[in-house]
Amino acid sequence: MQSTSGSDKVGRVLEGKVAIVTGAGSGVGRATANLFAKTGSNVVVVDLLPDRVSQVVAEIKSSGGKASGMVMDLSIGTEVDRMVDETLKSAGRVDILHNNAGIMDGVRPVADTTDEVWEKVMAINVTAPFRASRRAIPSMLKQGGGVIINTASVAGVFGGIAGAAYTVSKHALIGLTMNMAAFYGTKGIRCNAMVLGAVNTNIGVGGQPNPLGMEHLNKVASMVPRMAEPAEIAELALFLASGRSSYVNGSCIVIDGGWTVF
Ligand SMILES: NC(=O)c1ccc[n+]([C@@H]2O[C@H](COP(=O)([O-])OP(=O)(O)OC[C@H]3O[C@@H](n4cnc5c(N)ncnc54)[C@H](O)[C@@H]3O)[C@@H](O)[C@H]2O)c1
Repeated sequence: MQSTSGSDKVGRVLEGKVAIVTGAGSGVGRATANLFAKTGSNVVVVDLLPDRVSQVVAEIKSSGGKASGMVMDLSIGTEVDRMVDETLKSAGRVDILHNNAGIMDGVRPVADTTDEVWEKVMAINVTAPFRASRRAIPSMLKQGGGVIINTASVAGVFGGIAGAAYTVSKHALIGLTMNMAAFYGTKGIRCNAMVLGAVNTNIGVGGQPNPLGMEHLNKVASMVPRMAEPAEIAELALFLASGRSSYVNGSCIVIDGGWTVF
C-alpha cells in the first residue's frame, strides 16, 4: 500500500473558516493544522509544548497561511474553556473544532492502572473534548452551524489494542461523538470521529510499557499493514471539516489501512 496525498487538488475548501486544532504541535494535529491552513482556514494551534506551538505557527505562516498559537494544558478544565473563549474573542467564531489531543496509558491492564493514569487519560482524551464542545456549540448554534471532529482510535472500537484507560477513553469519545451528532445534527452542527489505526507520530505507548499489555499489543500490532503518515489522516480531517462531507454526521470512520478487517 503506497502513501499518496490528494490535497493539492482540493483547493481552498476551508476559506474563511476558523478552526481550533488541539494537539496541533505534533503528529496528526500538526499535519491537519497545516492542511487546514493551506486550504484557507485561520487555524488556532493548541498544544501543551510551547516550542511545538511556535514551530507549527511558523511553518503555517511561512507557507502563506493564517495561524495563531495557544499553549495550554488541556487536562485542566478551565484551560479548555479559555481555549474556546479566547478564540471567540480574537476571531469572532469557531467553525471547526478538532478535538485531537490525546495521550496513551502505557498499555496498562486494569489491575496496573493507577488513579493518576486513569484520571489524566480521561481528562485529556474525554473531558477536554466534552468541555471544548460544550463551550463551542452555543456559538456554532448562533452562527448557524459548525463542525466537530474527534480523533478516536481502533482502541475505541475493540478491546485489546491499548490499556484499560485509553480503551475506555476512546470508547467514550465515540459515544460523545454520536450523542452530539444526534442532538445537534438537525441544528447545523456535524460531529464525526476519525478512528485511527497505527500512525507514525510521537505518541509512543505513554510511559513505561506494561509487560502484559505489550504482550497482547505486539500480537495485534503484527497485523498492521504499515503505519500511516499523519498527512494521510489529515486528508480525512479535511474532508470531514469541509462542505464536501455535508451529509456525513455521527460517523466514526475507520482509517487504519485495513488493519482491523483481518
Ligand atoms: N499515533 C497513533 O498510532 C494513534 C492511533 C490511534 C489514535 N491516535 C490519536 O491521535 C491523536 C493525536 O495523536 P498523535 O498520534 O498525533 O500523537 P502526538 O503525541 O504526536 O501528538 C499529540 C500532541 O498532543 C499534545 N498534548 C498531549 N497532552 C496535552 C495536553 N494535556 N494539553 C495540550 N496538548 C497536549 C502533545 O504535546 C502532542 O504535541 C490522539 O488523540 C491519539 O490518541 C493516535
